[in-house]
Amino acid sequence: MDEVKSILSSDGLNHGSLARAREVLIRLASQDGLFPFEVFRAMDNGRNPNVLYCLAEDPDGTNALYLSSEQHAEDRSTLPHNHLAWAVIVGVHGTELNKLYERVDDGRIPGRGTVRQTSEIELCRGTGLFLMPEEIHSVHARGGSAMLSMHAYGLSMPRQTQRIEFLADGTTRQRKPNTNIRPIPGVS
Ligand SMILES: [Fe+2]
Repeated sequence: MDEVKSILSSDGLNHGSLARAREVLIRLASQDGLFPFEVFRAMDNGRNPNVLYCLAEDPDGTNALYLSSEQHAEDRSTLPHNHLAWAVIVGVHGTELNKLYERVDDGRIPGRGTVRQTSEIELCRGTGLFLMPEEIHSVHARGGSAMLSMHAYGLSMPRQTQRIEFLADGTTRQRKPNTNIRPIPGVS
């Protein structure tokens, strides 16, 4: 994260700097044996299908780095949503489809919003994506599959309380943060 922060402070926040940050995280995520799925488990007595292991976070809640571990019995899709913080997401283990969207309305009417898909990326080891704070994605996991991915955010997940998701009927609503956050197993 020191490297990521140094890129963002020298280059500013834009697609170019986030692309460079993505390369830093891909390098980290590609190190053999660093993030074994057996250690970073998704399930806690079968109750929590998506755990965020916090790897790093600044004391003021900025520049957070998580290892997201997921295992769903059934296919699972999120609605298109933003994070209202910059985000860099890279694959570690498994595959998961991410769709990227553009907003087609002007955002002036609270509670309303429409998006159109612009591209998609199969997230896996060696690949990644990045989002500016207002940019929008959705995540699609296949049932039965296990997925580890690394997520860096400009703001820690519990502080992402204002982000919104877009429903198919043209309305929007607040998207709650994932509060299922754990420390690195074995490290207190
Ligand atoms: Fe997201």
